[in-house]
Amino acid sequence: MRSFFLLFLPIPLELAAVRPLLADDPYIGPYIQALEQDSVTILWETDSPAVGEVEIGENGDGKKLLFIVREAEMRTIHNVPVGGLASDTRYFYRVRWDGKVSDRFSFRTRPPEGTRHFRIAAYGDSRSNPPVHTEIVRRMVEFEPDVVLHTGDLVADGTKKEHWKPQFFDPLRPLAAQAPVIPCMGNHENNSGLYYQYFNRADGESWFSYRWANVHFLVLDSQKPVKSGTEQFHWLEKELATPKPDWRIVFCHYPMFSCHPTRDVNENRWAWQDLFDRTGVDLVLTGHDHYYHRTHRIGRAWDPTSRGVYHITTAGGGASLYPVEQKIYTAKAESVHHFMILDIDGKRLEGEVLSVDGKLIDTFTIDRAAPEQTPFVSYEMVQWEKALNEAIDPIQPEAIGAGEGRIERKVKLPALSGYDASISVRWTGGSSFWAADLCESIVPTVPDKPFEVAIWGEGSPQAMYPLPRLELTPVRGPAAAKAFVNPSIVLHPLRVSTNRLLRAPKLSTEVKVDGKLDDAAWSRAAIANGFTRDFGTIRSGREAFQVGYDDKGILVAARIRSLIEKPKDQGAKDKDTRHMYRTDESVSIILSPPTLRQVYFFFCGNSRGTRFDSLSNVIPWNPDWEFATADSENGWQAEARIPWIALGLQGPPHDVWRVNLFHWDARDKALSEWTATYSSLGTARKFDAEIEFVPVP
Ligand SMILES: [Fe+2]
Repeated sequence: MRSFFLLFLPIPLELAAVRPLLADDPYIGPYIQALEQDSVTILWETDSPAVGEVEIGENGDGKKLLFIVREAEMRTIHNVPVGGLASDTRYFYRVRWDGKVSDRFSFRTRPPEGTRHFRIAAYGDSRSNPPVHTEIVRRMVEFEPDVVLHTGDLVADGTKKEHWKPQFFDPLRPLAAQAPVIPCMGNHENNSGLYYQYFNRADGESWFSYRWANVHFLVLDSQKPVKSGTEQFHWLEKELATPKPDWRIVFCHYPMFSCHPTRDVNENRWAWQDLFDRTGVDLVLTGHDHYYHRTHRIGRAWDPTSRGVYHITTAGGGASLYPVEQKIYTAKAESVHHFMILDIDGKRLEGEVLSVDGKLIDTFTIDRAAPEQTPFVSYEMVQWEKALNEAIDPIQPEAIGAGEGRIERKVKLPALSGYDASISVRWTGGSSFWAADLCESIVPTVPDKPFEVAIWGEGSPQAMYPLPRLELTPVRGPAAAKAFVNPSIVLHPLRVSTNRLLRAPKLSTEVKVDGKLDDAAWSRAAIANGFTRDFGTIRSGREAFQVGYDDKGILVAARIRSLIEKPKDQGAKDKDTRHMYRTDESVSIILSPPTLRQVYFFFCGNSRGTRFDSLSNVIPWNPDWEFATADSENGWQAEARIPWIALGLQGPPHDVWRVNLFHWDARDKALSEWTATYSSLGTARKFDAEIEFVPVP
């Protein structure tokens, strides 16, 4: 309930002309919200409580003042609804408080439903970087968008009042004064009460919808529960059952199809994708991963009615950028500060993406009136991958002899609903462990019944790499699928605790960390080789690591048959190196204590000897550790010592830690891993290789 009421005071025009023309900036704003065909709400914040007034006029010089709306009581966050307006009409306004008056701004009321032409600006994750945010806004204003969508993370911490003015409202001032900025809730907003106050959500709801021109906008809250059966999902189903205008655009903070190299899959992928596809959602705009990423259409390949959903992450509004990785569903990805302009003309949408310095990053067209020829991603394959690997993950081979094991499973894959199909099921690649089952068969599927694939393996689990791929392709017959770009699934490695166990011995003689690897101690260190690429399906063979320890810490040596990048910059430690494990010719060591599965210590050094380290890849951390590199005959080599104290230990742990070793091969632009990691199933931190520290060599 509002605690005040408003007075509508029609005033004579001559009175308006004698008002003083001083211009003051309030603490925040003014800005517009709740723009309707016949009304708007003007908000601003003042340093101290005051009674606010809004002047509404017909033109910019103030000579045609229409009326004034005055608050009934003193407030600091002013929220003044203005009614009685005509649709699709430009109005001018300014605000007054405490004897002060703002500049005059203008807005255009919402056009009638069904209007075909409409311009949207979209961006996100502007938090913590006002200079970039300000520049992006300066460029967006030039496009005069009808509405601005913000994909969340407006400020570094939504509960801190002092963040909102410098990080969000000051940079946004010229744009928010003339077009409504509609945000969705980001994780950095922390569900703060200020968010609801500033965005006029007196109802406290963080999911809601708008119908605007020919677009049905759905704003969702990916921080709140998302699954079927939750309050939000129930609302979403009801909303999506209403008649659809030309376009249905969803926006929320967490991306459903990310191109971040290591981030987990967000739960909303599994909760919402099928629903969106079945109810004609055209486009999903998200934030959170700080880059630009546009996907191909993602939908049901075996359903002729599915046109697929486009997903775009626009999260380059200022926060520090993330690396991008080309995924099977990626149409365009770039790590850049940017914003988007979407022009709608009937059933055609033209998208333009511009960087903060004005460069054109991407253009695209979605034409829902014409048959679409753009690449299609099968969401069934994405679901089958999940099912297959969730079935594989807990399997331990049954022992059949000394060091030998066997698995034999049938895995049920989710049904294709409503359509007959025949699918060619073919295993490819794989090691001698899997070789027994490299075969092809044609599987007819029954509508709404899960279909089964067999997984067989026998031999030494040590030899399970490379991993096989399962290729599922539609074959001729009734309702054969449309062509899609993702016909193969990579099996996960079996979770065999002895599969990758590194028994690191104590090295009794001195090791000098100089990159030369000429200390006698290295002859007794444990060897880690058999690196693979591409999720474990291809052998690499360009790297061998050695691991041991001494009283001071863990010792790691790496011999790499690849480039050494010049010029040499030995020992420099650079703050901007956090992504070099995937950009520079480099080696990385990850260690994780057994009790804390979400915590890992990350150490990376490039071939020039530059180091980077982090705690769980998010927390800045600067432990002392040694790293040195040197040229070798056919590449380069590295030596590292990670002190126990850096890991919070006094000496070697008595328990078994998890470990992974990486080599980024700059020549091939490929990541070699000692044990394969995945980011596609919400288990990005799955590396089950272990390290044990043994006192006696
Ligand atoms: Fe975020």
